[in-house]
Amino acid sequence: MKRTTPVIPPEDIRRQKEYCAQLRAMNAQRPAPPLAYVDTYGCQQNEADSELLRGMLCEMGYEIVPTGEGADVIVINTCAIREHAEQRVFGNVGALVHGKRRNPGQIICLCGCMAQEPHVAERLRQSYRHVDLVFGPQQLWRFPEFLRRVALRRGRVFETEPDDGAIAEGLPVYRSGKLKAWVSIMYGCNNFCSYCIVPYTRGRERSREPEVILNEIRALAEQGYMDITLLGQNVNSYGRDLEGDWDFPRLLEAAASVPGEFLLRFMTSHPKDATEKLFDVMAKCPKVAPVIHLPFQSGNSRVLAAMNRRYTREQYLDKVRLLRERIPDVVLTSDVIVGFPGETTEEFEDTLSLIEEVRFDALFTFIYSPRRGTPAAELPDPMSKEEKSANFQRLLEAQNRISLEKHRAYTGTVRRCLIDGSGEDPRNSLTARTAGGRLVHLSGDPALIGRFAEIKITGCSTWALSGELV
Ligand code: SAH
Ligand code: SF4
Ligand code: F3S
Repeated sequence: MKRTTPVIPPEDIRRQKEYCAQLRAMNAQRPAPPLAYVDTYGCQQNEADSELLRGMLCEMGYEIVPTGEGADVIVINTCAIREHAEQRVFGNVGALVHGKRRNPGQIICLCGCMAQEPHVAERLRQSYRHVDLVFGPQQLWRFPEFLRRVALRRGRVFETEPDDGAIAEGLPVYRSGKLKAWVSIMYGCNNFCSYCIVPYTRGRERSREPEVILNEIRALAEQGYMDITLLGQNVNSYGRDLEGDWDFPRLLEAAASVPGEFLLRFMTSHPKDATEKLFDVMAKCPKVAPVIHLPFQSGNSRVLAAMNRRYTREQYLDKVRLLRERIPDVVLTSDVIVGFPGETTEEFEDTLSLIEEVRFDALFTFIYSPRRGTPAAELPDPMSKEEKSANFQRLLEAQNRISLEKHRAYTGTVRRCLIDGSGEDPRNSLTARTAGGRLVHLSGDPALIGRFAEIKITGCSTWALSGELV
């Protein structure tokens, strides 16, 4: 098969770098470097995109700052997954008008998934006139060009046309951490789950070339990164648009053979595409962390069909059985939606029974939020808010009990953890993560940050473990 995803020609990327150089020269005229702030909402993919935005801003001569106070450029990288996320963005963007009045030269940019929703772009155009630049995720690589246009005062810039996307390589990246790194392996989503906005905002599935990904991982390992997460909306469809017979298990295995002391994680896996081959690679590669995020969304097969998830409850449970057969101590986390249109309380009980049967280590629980333009938003939704909240509460309570029970089972065991940061409480001066990604609080010398260490687990709560160095 030939590669089917378009790749941005290197000369187009080079042109963006020229724009960076021009802006850098302009910024160098100032008495001090101008300041830029990037605020990120949403998923890890957005976090990774923000590291690219910061990388480009550095190339343009900006200094990255941790707040918007007094910044010359503010970039809001938005998420459209639920109504609540959007309301927060509108609230925060609205509040920026005051700062802009004090500093009329300030440039305010809004990018990310919300920018790709036509009604949002329209609302920004009409009612948020202090926002200078709006562009969707597929246009991210053109940020220097857009910013230059705004900086030269050529009016507001809106680049929000629908776009299936392409692959852009060679962009600078400014990583926030020294130990943990994100590596996008693919972009977009083709699954069109009926409730979800992502396929409309992020375009079609497209994979980066394996050699480019592996080189990035080699460089990260050489720089001392110890916790590397491979990102995609559904990593399991990696390689379908590539030449040759690349798939995700093969990529993961190749990544795990890169020299260095690091752990590999990945997210997210659509259960319909999580294969035995993947579980085998996880089982046999010590560098692949024994953890998988496998969103089930609902425990009822009728609801799953209405969600267009393309697996049944039984098929999901079969996958979990197979996974645990291969990796008995695997840490399993998941996402679930309560109150999908037409879900009855009886059907919701199947979600409850599924979590009791599987016993996830952690669960991300969401109340359904209608997204304009998705098929589910057109479905009749007779259940009241109160009833949905009551179901949601039952789910939370059940999962909290399970999470606590699961954590209790860690007590008394010794785990190899990566010490990854300092805690807020002086008695627990350090934080660490088990290979499965569970948070551990402990006390110790900050010089240990960045090392793997054996930690004895001595206590726990629903959310975290506590322990001591052995
Ligand atoms: N690509 C990932 C999910 C990204 S969105 C995957 O398929 O696993 C993260 C989670 O948000 C989803 O798993 C789902 O549980 C939740 N979600 C997505 N759309 C939603 C909506 N309209 N309302 C409520 N929750 C939603
Ligand atoms: Fe959304 Fe489904 Fe794609 Fe995940 S797989 S991003 S839930 S459409
Ligand atoms: Fe949100 Fe877009 Fe990620 S909608 S969850 S930022 S892909």
